[in-house]
Amino acid sequence: MEMFNAKVTGVQGWVPDYVLTNQELETMVDTTDEWILSRTGIVERRLLKGEGKGTSDMAVEAVSRLLEKTGTSKEEVDLVVFATVTPDMVMPDTANTLCDKLGLKNAFGFDLKAACSGFIYAVTTASQFVKTGMYKKVVVVGADKMSSIIDYEDRATCIIFGDGAGAILLEPTKEETGFVDAVLKGDGSGRQYLYIKAGGSKMEITPEAIANKDHKVFQDGRPVFKAAVKGMANAIKEVLAKNGLTKDDVSWIIPHQANKRIISSVAQQLDFPMEKVTVNIHKYGNTTAATIPLCMWEWEPKFKKGDYIILTAFGGGFTCGAVLLKWGY
Ligand code: UT7
Repeated sequence: MEMFNAKVTGVQGWVPDYVLTNQELETMVDTTDEWILSRTGIVERRLLKGEGKGTSDMAVEAVSRLLEKTGTSKEEVDLVVFATVTPDMVMPDTANTLCDKLGLKNAFGFDLKAACSGFIYAVTTASQFVKTGMYKKVVVVGADKMSSIIDYEDRATCIIFGDGAGAILLEPTKEETGFVDAVLKGDGSGRQYLYIKAGGSKMEITPEAIANKDHKVFQDGRPVFKAAVKGMANAIKEVLAKNGLTKDDVSWIIPHQANKRIISSVAQQLDFPMEKVTVNIHKYGNTTAATIPLCMWEWEPKFKKGDYIILTAFGGGFTCGAVLLKWGY
């Protein structure tokens, strides 16, 4: 079998217009702008408003622009791997809906759920299809409408999350660029700290569940915080060691945007300069599967061919990991 490298050939993001500021949150729950900013680094986040609008609607905006930007015709797309925890519906997969809405007639797609690590799991999965030569144009989406699963009376979670979408295109190349390696981890014992109790097969969304807010996100922040710093720092060290590289070989670290303090602690643990770490959490908050592609989109003009770039994430599950890329343009 002829093998290829899976090169990123384009990046695109999209965020909704509505801006939920810390000041507006002050009127909704018992919180302050000062608390939110000092504990998380978040100033504002975007929310998708509109009756009947779901995650696929944001993905349509991101992917249609990605195809236009990369000169890719709709017929050429083979596969869509869609990372999300907020699918339009429990079934069918949002990837299918996206393909239909965009007219990607020759593509198939599936959703991939790994909480905030969804995008790095999806990039790793999608890259394997490209490396084997099985598919040539693969779109990886990370998109979440977190506002649909957040309790806006819970100050511990509603200040953190936002809505957004990002997407990348992966294509085969014989060049030494693209997806290099990944270290992906999972620890199911962490599931007690970050979850949505109802709406799965274990507990239906009954009137009682709604009254208890069991259909909304629960998070015990402190243990997640500690595990996130350790998890991302270790995954980065491991992927570098596995590939005979050191932190000095890395041009950019693109971390999941969950908390500014988590991001700086990871950089500190690695003794890595913050100037080479992408941070946009102040603008968008935590958009779950979308944080990494939104950062890639914003920093794309700064990336140079041959740059080693690390994507790293931690999330509910616990899920965690680091992806090593060699930038191709
Ligand atoms: O992306 C998926 C993975 N998720 C994460 O990585 C998130 C990880 N966790 C975090 O980022 C942080 O733990 C939070 C931002 C969620 C919370 O920050 P913290 O510094 O860990 O605060 P805490 O939960 O320990 O709460 C400290 C205090 C508590 O009051 P007492 O018990 O000390 O009196 C909370 O009740 O702050 C209180 N508090 C708030 N006060 C004002 C919690 N939320 C708020 C709020 N405004 N919004």
